[in-house]
Amino acid sequence: MKSPKFTVISLFPEMIQQMVAQGVVGQGLKHNIFELEVINPRDFTTDVHKTVDDRPYGGGDGMVLLCEPLELALKQVVGEDSRVIYLSPQGQLLDDDKVKELAESPHIVMICGRYGGIDQRIINLYVDEEVSIGNYVLSGGELAAGVVIDSVARFFPGVLGHQDSAHSDSFTNGFLEAPNFTRPQNYKGQGIPTALLSGNHKLIEEWREKVGQLVTLSKRPELMLNVDLTVESIRDLYLFWQGLSAQERDLLGLSGLSAEEFSLLLAAEEEL
Ligand code: ADE
Repeated sequence: MKSPKFTVISLFPEMIQQMVAQGVVGQGLKHNIFELEVINPRDFTTDVHKTVDDRPYGGGDGMVLLCEPLELALKQVVGEDSRVIYLSPQGQLLDDDKVKELAESPHIVMICGRYGGIDQRIINLYVDEEVSIGNYVLSGGELAAGVVIDSVARFFPGVLGHQDSAHSDSFTNGFLEAPNFTRPQNYKGQGIPTALLSGNHKLIEEWREKVGQLVTLSKRPELMLNVDLTVESIRDLYLFWQGLSAQERDLLGLSGLSAEEFSLLLAAEEEL
């Protein structure tokens, strides 16, 4: 089967190349688990100055990327199975579901605008969807393209060490991850949760799952409502939390959690 491919259209190709060359995602690229193509609209200009932008009609701040170089670039790369994304704060917010959906796509083409954006007519003609990485404005789409590539590539088999670890990470089952610990066993008076020292993998897995749920309830309680929880599972979680010593709660960053959060969650679940 052909590897999935990202094509990024950007005036700053080195920015993309450098971001994607690092870490596990960089290794994935090196081992051809996916392909990356970066093209510069400036290479598609026909004037001596290699002009890629111009002032907006009607006035206003920033320069707008010209239609023609972008269209020529798009025509070179867009095929039958391409999904064309314009990175913009006006787009749909990128989240774990969107990332997984994009990971199913054989070819993602991303257009990076700069301050001032791109001509709307290119969006009308070529763009399948707009995607935003958050409710703030970046000076260009490059960092957003890097975020999309990094988050999507983690779902390609072989990019992460363990085949399924992207699927067991924070968010993917709806909950955040349990905290992690490594050597030394004692660091400035802080030990390791006893369950993690038990050597019992099944117990550790169950413990991590519960702790992940507690972390979610403590740090991002609104995420708890996206998951189907039964009244019994909330009571179970409460009992598990009660079974943790004060010291262990501190160690896990859970000292802010109180019985009240469980009551609120129960009330919210019963209302749903
Ligand atoms: N370009 C500028 N701001 C952006 C954002 N928040 N997300 C995606 N692309 C952008």
